[in-house]
Amino acid sequence: MHEEHVPLTDEHERMMRVNQANWDARTPVHAASRFYGVDEPPDPSRWFAPFEWEDLGDLTGRDVLHLQCHLGSDTIAFAERGARTVGLDISEASVAAARAIAERAGADVEYVRANVYDAPTALEGRRFDVVYTGKGALVYLPDLDRWAATVAGLLRPGGRLYIVEFHPLLTSLGPEPAVGEGSELLLRHDYLGGRDAIRRTVTRTYTDGPPVQGAIESYEWTHGLGEVVNALVGAGLRIARLRESDELPWPRWPEMDRTPSGWWRLPKTSPRIPLLYGLLATP
Ligand SMILES: C[S@@+](CC[C@H](N)C(=O)[O-])C[C@H]1O[C@@H](n2cnc3c(N)ncnc32)[C@H](O)[C@@H]1O
Repeated sequence: MHEEHVPLTDEHERMMRVNQANWDARTPVHAASRFYGVDEPPDPSRWFAPFEWEDLGDLTGRDVLHLQCHLGSDTIAFAERGARTVGLDISEASVAAARAIAERAGADVEYVRANVYDAPTALEGRRFDVVYTGKGALVYLPDLDRWAATVAGLLRPGGRLYIVEFHPLLTSLGPEPAVGEGSELLLRHDYLGGRDAIRRTVTRTYTDGPPVQGAIESYEWTHGLGEVVNALVGAGLRIARLRESDELPWPRWPEMDRTPSGWWRLPKTSPRIPLLYGLLATP
């Protein structure tokens, strides 16, 4: 793996096209992985914490838009709860896989291929009761102010934006030494964004399965929690709730323990820190 820092410039469109190719290349590996388990009868509920359903409220008959939906492994949960559901993703391969997965599951979901920043045009001005995003989404967005303004424009009056995202504290942690027995989690990466894009060239993705073939280059942007909140406030949204959770839907590190909910948390001997956050915002 090779990693270097690239200053933020107006090259964002190019970097997002690079990411699009990378997600197209990752998709066949993910679609065949145990991580996503999409060949088994899909169980989208395993990707949701109970507090998410509490904050989202009754979805029956609601118009729900899931941004950066990837394989739609969690998107179909909204359709199962009675919502008219649209998933949007920049990757053509992801959208094609998501359509096949939804069809196999008998879920009625519409999928649209588009960059999030182009969503208003791609969705022809449609507006939604709920816009849902997260779990590895915001890190691919170079400009949160522009993103927040875009999302605000996708909401109906009385609608809600729900972000469930990996906590920036989680992404700032890394084991030292990187592999092997007795490693310790330390602060190893930026918590705050605004400095550089991170350019990665890596054949390994986060799921099980073979190496990614072809387009292995990608770009990521770090966003601290304050940056997310201020982008939303700047777009005229009201923050109605911010939850911080010490549980993750998958074991990020081998030492994590299974919780009664079936999710994962750091062992009791570790400090109790947030690994995921849920943020509800309204117009
Ligand atoms: C980690 S995945 C999404 C998380 C999802 N919850 C999951 O676990 O499957 C990130 C997704 O964001 C999509 N993506 C990245 N940049 C995007 C952009 N600018 N517009 C729309 N989708 C984007 C990728 O194609 C990928 O499918």
